[in-house]
Amino acid sequence: MRPNFFLLCICFYALLSSGTSSGDDRRWLVSLVDLVEFDYQDQCDQRATAAWEELLGSTKGLSMKLERDKAFGIFARKQKTDVESAFTAHALSADDDTLRRRVKLLLQPGDALLDTQQWIRLVTFADNALNRIRTSTDYDCGANTTCSLRELHNSLAREQDEQVLRQMKLSWESHLPELHDYLENILPLLRNASKENHYELVEEYWDALCEYEGALLAARELWQRVRPLYLKLHKYTALKLRGPSAVGEPLPIHLLHSLTGDDWSNLIEKLLPKHPDIYQKVHANLQLKDIGGLKAFKEANNLLSQLNLGELPPEIFLESAFNGTCPTTVVDWCQPNKVRFVTCKDVSIQNYMDAHEAAMKIRYKLITALHSNNTYILREAPRYSAIYEAVPGFMSLLSLNPHTLDRAGLYPLERFNYNTNHHRLVLQLIIALRDLPKLNYYIAADTWRLDVLMGKIPYAKIEDSWRDFRKNFSLIETSNVDIVGDPYILLNKPYIGKFLGIILKYQIYQSFAEELISDDSDLVKHVAENNQRLIDVMMQGFVATWPEMVSDLLAKRENGLEYTGITDYFRLLDEYLDNQLDPASDNMVEDYVDPPVEPEPQENDISEKSDTPIEPNNELDKTHDDIHENIIETDDDTNSKYETSTVGVLEIKNPVGVGDQNEIENPKEASYNVYWWIGVAVALAVIVILVAIIARKRRSHKKQVERQRRQNTRA
Ligand SMILES: *[C@@H]1O[C@H](CO)[C@@H](O)[C@H](O)[C@H]1NC(C)=O
Ligand SMILES: *[C@@H]1O[C@H](CO)[C@@H](O)[C@H](O)[C@H]1NC(C)=O
Ligand SMILES: *[C@@H]1O[C@H](CO)[C@@H](O)[C@H](O)[C@H]1NC(C)=O
Ligand SMILES: *[C@@H]1O[C@H](CO)[C@@H](O)[C@H](O)[C@H]1NC(C)=O
Ligand SMILES: *[C@@H]1O[C@H](CO)[C@@H](O)[C@H](O)[C@H]1NC(C)=O
Ligand SMILES: *[C@@H]1O[C@H](CO)[C@@H](O)[C@H](O)[C@H]1NC(C)=O
Repeated sequence: MRPNFFLLCICFYALLSSGTSSGDDRRWLVSLVDLVEFDYQDQCDQRATAAWEELLGSTKGLSMKLERDKAFGIFARKQKTDVESAFTAHALSADDDTLRRRVKLLLQPGDALLDTQQWIRLVTFADNALNRIRTSTDYDCGANTTCSLRELHNSLAREQDEQVLRQMKLSWESHLPELHDYLENILPLLRNASKENHYELVEEYWDALCEYEGALLAARELWQRVRPLYLKLHKYTALKLRGPSAVGEPLPIHLLHSLTGDDWSNLIEKLLPKHPDIYQKVHANLQLKDIGGLKAFKEANNLLSQLNLGELPPEIFLESAFNGTCPTTVVDWCQPNKVRFVTCKDVSIQNYMDAHEAAMKIRYKLITALHSNNTYILREAPRYSAIYEAVPGFMSLLSLNPHTLDRAGLYPLERFNYNTNHHRLVLQLIIALRDLPKLNYYIAADTWRLDVLMGKIPYAKIEDSWRDFRKNFSLIETSNVDIVGDPYILLNKPYIGKFLGIILKYQIYQSFAEELISDDSDLVKHVAENNQRLIDVMMQGFVATWPEMVSDLLAKRENGLEYTGITDYFRLLDEYLDNQLDPASDNMVEDYVDPPVEPEPQENDISEKSDTPIEPNNELDKTHDDIHENIIETDDDTNSKYETSTVGVLEIKNPVGVGDQNEIENPKEASYNVYWWIGVAVALAVIVILVAIIARKRRSHKKQVERQRRQNTRA
C-alpha cells in the first residue's frame, strides 16, 4: 500500500516535471531509491515473519519461508534493474556521497542477483537442510536414546566415552544434506553470483562484499601471525587429552566435544591450569543461579546499561523465545524495535558470552536505526562488516572482565586481587578456546571453498578434500561432510567478515585497555565514559565502508587490522603454553615446592588462611611478563559450597609450575634440599586435606546438580 502511494507520487512528479536537467535526474533517482527501499523493507518484514514461524516450528513455517526466500531473489533482481535504468552519471553531484552509496548497495545486492532458477536452488537447498538439522528429534544421545539438536549439544558437552562421542557426531552427520549435491550444484553458484556482480574471481567478489581490499589476502597474513598461538593451544590440548605422543598430531574432532571443531569450549575442564579458582566459581555461580536463557540476556542488558549504550527494550525479551537451540538466532523485521531472537535456556560460560554478543548485536541494530538518515539499505546492506562482528565480540570480552564478573555476582573482585595473573590466565584460556578455533575454522572454510572453485583440487579428490584440508590446515581429523552442516556454507556466505571481526575486537579491547590509568581500574567504567567512538560507528551503519571507520573506532591508534591486538591479549596464555610444552619443564614438580622456602605470606600461601592482602599485580595483559603467583588458595574454598568438577583435585595432585625459571635461579638454592622435604610434607598434608574436602563437596555438588537437572527438566 505504502509503495503504491509512493509510486503515485512519483508518477505525478514525473508528469509535473519536464526537462531533463541534472537536478530533475537527481530528484527522480532519489524518489526511485526511496521507493525501492520501502519495497525492500516490506520484503524484510514478510521474510522475517516467515523465518520466525519456521524457527518456532509451526507447521507451515518451512513452506512460508521457502516461498518468501525464493521471491526475494526475483525481487532483488527487479529492483536492481529499476535503479539501473534511473541511474545516469550526471544524476549525482560530487558531494552526493550518501545517495551514491545507496545506489551502489542496491545495484550490487550480492547472491540475490543470481539467475532466478539458480537462486531458488540455493535457498531451497539451504532452507530445507537447516530446517531438518534444527527440527530433527532422532539424534543419538548415547545409551540408545534419541534426542533433539539442543539435547545433542548438551550431551556432546558432557559425554566422556570416546565411542559414544563418535556416534553422536555420526548421527548428526546423517542429518546433513548430500555433500555431492552441494559440491555439484550449490558451491559452483558462487562463480555465477560473482559474474552477475561483475567480478571475474570469487575471491574478488568476496573481497568486495566484505568491502576490504585484498580481504582474504589480509586474512591469510593475519592468520600466519596468529597461527603459532593456535598451534600451541592445539599441542597443549593434545598433550592433556592424549599424552605427549599425540602432540603435533591431528586430533579427532569428537574429542573436541564439538560438531564442526570451531569451538573447543567444552574441553575447558580438561585443560585448566593448576589454580582454576575463577573458572570453578564462575561456572558454579552460573549453574546455581541458573543464568541461562532470559537471565543471561538480562545480565547482558545490565552490562549494556553499565556501558551507557542503552538497554534492549522489554518487548524484545517478551516476544523472543528461550525454548530453542543455541547459538542464538536473531530475526529482524527492519522496523523500529522489532527484533526477536530464539535461544536456548542452557547454562554455560559459552552461552553466557554468546548472550552478551547477541544482545550487543541487537543493540547495534537499534542504534543504527535511531539515526534517522539511515534508510533501509544503509542499515541492512548485504555486506560483511568486520565492525559489525567486532563490537558485539568486544562486549563478550567485557562480560568476563573482573569488574563485570564482580557486579554480576559471579566472582568477587577482592578474590581477583590475589593471584591476578592466574585468574587472567584462566580467563584467557576460556576465551582462547572459543576464538582461536573459530579463526582457524573461518579461514579454513573460505580457503577450501576458493580452492575447490579455482580447480586447485583435482576433481576426483574433491569429495575427500575437506577432510584432507582440515587435517593439514587445522590439525583436526574430521569427516568430509560436516562442512555442510554450517549455515554460512549452505548459503554460500563468506566467513571473511567474521574472521576480520575477531581480529578487530581485540584491537578495540586494546585501544580502551591502553587508556586505563592502572590495570586495576574498571575497564567497563572507562568504556562507558568513552563510548562515543563505539556509538559513532554504530550510528553510521553502512553509510561508509567499515575500513574507513576503523581509525576513529580505535581512537586513531591504528588505521587498519593488526594481529598484535589478539597476540598481546593472550600473552599470559602464550607463556603458559610455552612452559607446558617445553620438554625442559619436566622438573616442574620440583619447581613448585618453592613456596615453603619463602616465609612471606605473599608467595608462600600454602597455609589455610591468608589475610594479608597481596599487592595487586600492576600489569595489564599487554605488559605483564611474569606469572609467579603460585599460590594454592584454600581459604575460601573451605567455606565454599560451590566447588565443582574434579579439576581441583587432579590439578593439585599434578602440580606443574607456570613460569618459575627465574625463581630457580635465585640464591636460596643452597638450602633447597631441606626446604624441599619440608615443602613436600606440607604439600602432601594439604593435598590430603584438599582431596577430602573436595571429594565431600563434589558429592554435595553432584546432589545439587542432580536436583537442578530435575528441576530443569521439569521446567
Ligand atoms: C542398545 O540397543 C541394542 C539393541 O537394540 C542393545 O544391544 C544394546 O545393548 C543397547 N545399548 C545400551 C547402552 O543400552
Ligand atoms: C552458471 O551459469 C551458467 C550460464 O548461465 C549455467 O550454464 C550454469 O549451469 C550455472 N551454474 C550452476 C552451478 O548453476
Ligand atoms: C517456544 O516458545 C514460543 C513462544 O515463546 C512458542 O510459540 C513455541 O510454541 C515454543 N516451542 C516449544 C517447542 O515449546
Ligand atoms: C542527514 O542527511 C542530510 C543530507 O543527506 C545532511 O544534511 C544531514 O546533516 C544529515 N544528518 C545527520 C544527523 O547526519
Ligand atoms: C599443508 O599445509 C602447509 C602449510 O599450512 C602447506 O605448505 C602444504 O602444502 C600443505 N600440504 C598439503 C598436502 O596440502
Ligand atoms: C595507515 O597509516 C599508515 C601509516 O601510519 C599509512 O601508511 C597508511 O596509508 C594508512 N592507511 C590508511 C588506510 O589510511
